[in-house]
Formats: sequence, C-alpha cells, structure tokens
Amino acid sequence: MMYFITGNRHKYEEVKKIIGPGITMRTVPYPEIQAETLEEVATYGINYLKDRVDGAFFIEDSGLFIEVLNGFPGVFSAYVFRAIGNEGILKILQGEENRKARFMSVMGYYDGEIHLFTGVCEGTIAHEIRGKRGFGYDPVFIPKGDNRTFAEMVTEEKNRYSHRGKSALMLKKYLEEKER
Ligand code: IMP
Repeated sequence: MMYFITGNRHKYEEVKKIIGPGITMRTVPYPEIQAETLEEVATYGINYLKDRVDGAFFIEDSGLFIEVLNGFPGVFSAYVFRAIGNEGILKILQGEENRKARFMSVMGYYDGEIHLFTGVCEGTIAHEIRGKRGFGYDPVFIPKGDNRTFAEMVTEEKNRYSHRGKSALMLKKYLEEKER
C-alpha cells in the first residue's frame, strides 16, 4: 500500500486506473514553491513530506504550457485557472492561429530516494469550451490524435493520451521492476 498525496480527487481517479488498487489518496498540505520547473516544485514537496509521511508515497505536479505564450501558464497553471479560468484562456488566444499547447506531469515518488517521472501530452487549445468531464483546463484542451477535448472523454480515454497517464505508467513500470 502506498499513498498518493494530493488534494485533487480527479488526479487520484486517473492514476488509480493505471496503477491499481495498491494506492490510497491522502491529503497532506505541502508548500508548492514558486519555481521555474515542475521538477523543482515536486522535489521541494517531497523533501517537505518525507519526514511527515510514513513509508513510500508520491505526489504529482502538472501544468499547461501554451506555445505562443512562451509556455505560460506553466508552473502558474493552478493560480491562473483560479484567477481567469478557461474563459480567460480563450480570451487571451482570441484570433490567434497558433493554438499549440502541451500538458506536462511530473510524478514524484519517494522510497528513501526521490524518483521523478515526466509525462508530456501535445495538443491544441480549442476555440470554445467543450465537455463536462474532468477538471481544470480539460474543456479547452484537445490532445494530438483526437478531435475531442479531454472533458469529452471518459477517464480511460483521457489516460491513453494524457501527460498524467504517461507519468503514471512510468511510475507503475518502475514499481514493477522494483518488485522483481
Ligand atoms: P497542480 O499540479 O495541482 O499544482 O496544478 C496544476 C494545474 O494545472 C491544475 O490546477 C489544473 O488547472 C491544471 N491541470 C493539470 N493537469 C490537468 C489536467 O489533466 N486537466 C486539466 N487541467 C490540468
């Protein structure tokens, strides 16, 4: 049994579908520092949590990087979503033809040492809000290879494309190797 330390139930449901019943969600607040990379944010979080959580655990830090905005909101994704939401993102990109964006997910696992696994999902920002599922920027993000937004997909479909689906699979593989 292992803890996924997160306050986000959607993230937990997505990851559980990949790693399986061996994980349990636990909410332990930890500081999310203002850094330039997701890796730094995750590493700081793990170092804070390692003396406060017993046994193996992992956290996840993610963000949306819009090409024409030089990667903004990136590490500010949670704050920007709270401040302006999907309507705000669509407004900023109004009339913009380059709608390329990528989601990134850094899974940070701790078992006495820190292990980071990074997943990337390329895609585009839709022209309108579409779909009711998921969370955050899901209704405006269309992954490469599909025409639907993440919010129009069930979790298994989103996982097949998503940044988190990829980083969770890397963690799963690492755990399986370790067991052998
Ligand atoms: P954090 O990883 O909790 O610091 O926040 C990342 C923020 O990026 C979230 O609050 C969401 O707004 C956004 N985000 C990250 N992953 C996803 C996703 O899979 N779908 C939609 N939004 C996401």
